[in-house]
Amino acid sequence: MAQEVVQLTRRKFGETVRRDAWWVPQIGALVVLSSFLAYATWAAFQNAHYEFGPYLSPFYSPLIVGNSPHAWFQKAPWFIPAISPALLILPFPAGFRFTCYYYRGTYYKAFWADPPGCAVGEPRKSYLGEKSFPLILQNVHRYFLYAALLFLIILGLDAWRGYWFADASGVKHFGIGLGSLVLTVNVILLSGYTLGCHSLRHLVGGYLDRLSGRPVRKKAYDCVSCLNRGHMNWAWASLFWVAFSDVYVRLCSMGIWTDLRIL
Ligand code: FES
Repeated sequence: MAQEVVQLTRRKFGETVRRDAWWVPQIGALVVLSSFLAYATWAAFQNAHYEFGPYLSPFYSPLIVGNSPHAWFQKAPWFIPAISPALLILPFPAGFRFTCYYYRGTYYKAFWADPPGCAVGEPRKSYLGEKSFPLILQNVHRYFLYAALLFLIILGLDAWRGYWFADASGVKHFGIGLGSLVLTVNVILLSGYTLGCHSLRHLVGGYLDRLSGRPVRKKAYDCVSCLNRGHMNWAWASLFWVAFSDVYVRLCSMGIWTDLRIL
């Protein structure tokens, strides 16, 4: 059968034959990610209103130092700098998101238009991929994953502690507040995002040539793959909810919102 050779023409920056509003998701990502970055930075520097009763904001968890029952140390040991406790821990979840395969594809388009979109002309002629400096550093993602898995355990414990309310004598009783549910949803969404990570899929079995005959690995691989299919949705939902969890705890602590006690 005769085959026709189609010559591809290099387009100029931003040039495309696409007729859809291809730039809308990029603008949406730019606005949402910029807003999140601005809010998270502001909240991390506040060093106040990060707890309310049994609730601890995920931006400050684990609370390494603080005058709080949630804190590991009431007084900072010499090796811990005297800065907002959020600044001690936020580099880990921030690094995890920044190097995430999904977010990379999103913010490369949204923040520096490289590429601006699929089938849209790029701003340069060469393509180095992520094999050269500085983008080769994105490979640290797998190490941030280990930290993120640890954070999931810590945030799960925080959510559980959010169900234990102290009475006037300091004795704790099980109860359910709206904040308990907010922190629980937070850890569920973060788990959906973290456990669907591409690096985790590689770790649990993706690096093997054959998964047959390895039933545990196969099951783990299937579970991670299942979450991975919705990775984009988990990424956005968990991003929104972790910020909302901080807002919830902050506004309750400031007396602007009242925590609804369900049980
Ligand atoms: S690829 Fe997105 S969290 Fe690892």
